[in-house]
Amino acid sequence: MKPSHILVIGSLNMDLVVTAPRTPDEGETIMGSRFQRFFGGKGANQAVSGARLGGSVTMLGRLGADVFGNEQLQSLKDEGIDVRYITQDHHQPSGVASIILEEYGKNRIIVVPGANGAISRQDIDVAERAMKRADVVVLQLEIPLDTVAHAVKKAAQMGKRVILNPAPAQMLDSSLFHCISVITPNESEAKLLTGIDVHDKASARKAAKELLNRGVGQVIITLGSGGVYGCSQRGEFHIHAHRVKPVDTVAAGDAFSGGLAVALGEGRALLAAAKLANAAAAIAVTRPGAQPSMPTRGEVEAYLRNEENA
Ligand code: ATP
Ligand code: RIB
Repeated sequence: MKPSHILVIGSLNMDLVVTAPRTPDEGETIMGSRFQRFFGGKGANQAVSGARLGGSVTMLGRLGADVFGNEQLQSLKDEGIDVRYITQDHHQPSGVASIILEEYGKNRIIVVPGANGAISRQDIDVAERAMKRADVVVLQLEIPLDTVAHAVKKAAQMGKRVILNPAPAQMLDSSLFHCISVITPNESEAKLLTGIDVHDKASARKAAKELLNRGVGQVIITLGSGGVYGCSQRGEFHIHAHRVKPVDTVAAGDAFSGGLAVALGEGRALLAAAKLANAAAAIAVTRPGAQPSMPTRGEVEAYLRNEENA
């Protein structure tokens, strides 16, 4: 199968993760059990997911000209990702995400965007060649919204398939929806976008219909351990999540988006693409960290074969 060419436009962060029995109350200090540092950021996570699953990935983003930035750039190169559109900013530090991971799997994240916040329309225009070459253009909302809107419109004008993972949750301008081929909100993002409280298949269907009515081509709502709801004007489906013991669910949605992009770029239908993405995300939640948790294509295929034979 021909590899899919994917352009990921988005954030890169250094994830600073403390594991603790619980989140402290206001004014309280508690003892944690572990500190770890992982490469993260929704954009970079989705780029790594796509590359490990067999996509030919180019990433556009911005790092600081600092130690975190240098390490992340090298790591993405090592993953085989084309980094020529990742610049290093001499005025802003690399983005960081401060993550509290509770021992029972829940997490809380604060992102300080740093250089991610300086990605501009001009950076998008400079990468026109990469956009032209791409089968799929993938974006999230951890870089300036104005830049995302510019890129989404430009890619749509070129006739590209645009996947928008609308995370972290933000309102979108109504002019953007008809430029989006596939939108992939989780439950809370779907609620913010549509006003519908999404908590199960029925409410996901309602929210998805609303997004289709606004002009989006296809909708995938990820429901955590509740699996995935997908629909287009042609039909709908629900896939159960795989039964796994979650260790760290940070970047589950990113593993999913990377998998979806690769499979759609290979020409698979939405349901088949969602199945591959669902398996990739299930494996990712069994492993610690954002980028280190992303599985390879071989791992996902072996996992699906085992599940079939079980
Ligand atoms: P995150 O913000 O943590 O990256 P998210 O909130 O964007 O994730 P979720 O809806 O929580 O996304 O999860 C994305 C996908 O990951 C799910 O649709 C499912 O395929 C998989 N997944 C998440 N949690 C689990 C779980 N506990 N067991 C199996 N699969 C899971
Ligand atoms: O989606 C997970 C990511 O969100 C983390 O890697 C963290 O950097 C935040 O951006």
